[in-house]
Amino acid sequence: MASFSTDLHYWTRRAAIGGISGLTRALPPVGNYLRVRFHIDIVFWLCAAHGYPLRNPDILDPFSGAGINMSHGYLERVNSAHLCDINEDYIRLAGKLGPKVRTTHGDSFAMMNQGDPRLGRYDLIILDNNLGGVYAGFCEHFDAMPAVFRYLKDDAGYAVLALNFITDPDLMDSDPRFRTPPESFAEQMRRRAVFYGTDERRITPRIGAAAYDREARKEGWTVADYALAPRAEFFHFLLLFLRRA
Ligand SMILES: C[S@@+](CC[C@H](N)C(=O)[O-])C[C@H]1O[C@@H](n2cnc3c(N)ncnc32)[C@H](O)[C@@H]1O
Repeated sequence: MASFSTDLHYWTRRAAIGGISGLTRALPPVGNYLRVRFHIDIVFWLCAAHGYPLRNPDILDPFSGAGINMSHGYLERVNSAHLCDINEDYIRLAGKLGPKVRTTHGDSFAMMNQGDPRLGRYDLIILDNNLGGVYAGFCEHFDAMPAVFRYLKDDAGYAVLALNFITDPDLMDSDPRFRTPPESFAEQMRRRAVFYGTDERRITPRIGAAAYDREARKEGWTVADYALAPRAEFFHFLLLFLRRA
């Protein structure tokens, strides 16, 4: 005999799926926002799955922008979030994201490298750095190394660094949203070769983790494990699970 409740469950879900699909077709940014929330969920799920759960962490987000593209997605999960950006308007708006947020305006590379006293210690640092080319003289997150490791809490047994990790720069550059002026792209490729220690353009998580472990050790940390949290075909969050060396 047919079960009415099974049919009701099926058709209400069909209606919800149809409604959400229609909404994202009509307003593509809605789809982006759903996806961003999922990316953040994956970050926290992978931390737990690898044995490095983050419960109410204190987060540093040195390239936060206004926080409206990605950073807002983790706020429900955190104890506090310190958002920093070089753009004054972005950071003014980031300050309006809610009571858990503290903001600092400035050059985050300089803040980290020079030991700015406004920085604290954090359970999770997210480097959502610019992706393509060279930006104001900086390339990806390389200039934050190894200083960024100084700002991890060392009393918790472990900490996590999440960073924008480009696996395939050529594929990224072929996407009109990420196209970079040729000179800037060439300079980025040169800096990547130096940092990762290879002329390979495609960088695997294993090659990346080895380079980050080299940097982490300079500050007394080691990359105990790592995981890739996908964001797009060509860049992801690489999660580095860190323990004291
Ligand atoms: C990919 S966007 C970040 C997006 C952001 N997480 C969000 O949720 O909207 C990178 C940000 O890094 C900032 N940035 C670039 N160089 C910087 C620097 N030297 N110091 C601080 N922020 C910087 C840019 O202004 C930009 O807002």
